[in-house]
Amino acid sequence: MNDPVIESLRQVVADTYALIGQTHICHWNVRGPSFFSLHLAFEEQYNELFAAVDEIAERIRAKGALAPGGLANLAKMAGISEIGEDASAHDMVAHLVEANEKLLSDLATARDHASEANDSESEDMMIARIQAHEKTVWMLKSYLE
Ligand SMILES: [Fe+2]
Repeated sequence: MNDPVIESLRQVVADTYALIGQTHICHWNVRGPSFFSLHLAFEEQYNELFAAVDEIAERIRAKGALAPGGLANLAKMAGISEIGEDASAHDMVAHLVEANEKLLSDLATARDHASEANDSESEDMMIARIQAHEKTVWMLKSYLE
């Protein structure tokens, strides 16, 4: 399988799954005076990501290829580092900024491959995901200011 559109979409799926896991652990373990707001914000984020990753995986299927899955396999593919269970709220938010930025880089690659392949539907989907992650990065960075 050497289709760059498929390969880059599969990377987006793997890293989105990794980001869901990282956002979820932050939702569970965040502590401190911002607990309530961060706990809820992280929940909104992983729910949004979970819906999005399903659409992207199904786009891969619609293009005739197979979607990646399984925790061990996704972890092998993913390029996102993991946060410690006891990280501070500040470090969690900074970590999620980095992870969302990795997604933005994956998405830009997939968008460009889709554009070169005249696959406007995948390109459109990647553009929408870029907007979603840019919004998340803005919100997370605002917390850090
Ligand atoms: Fe929860």
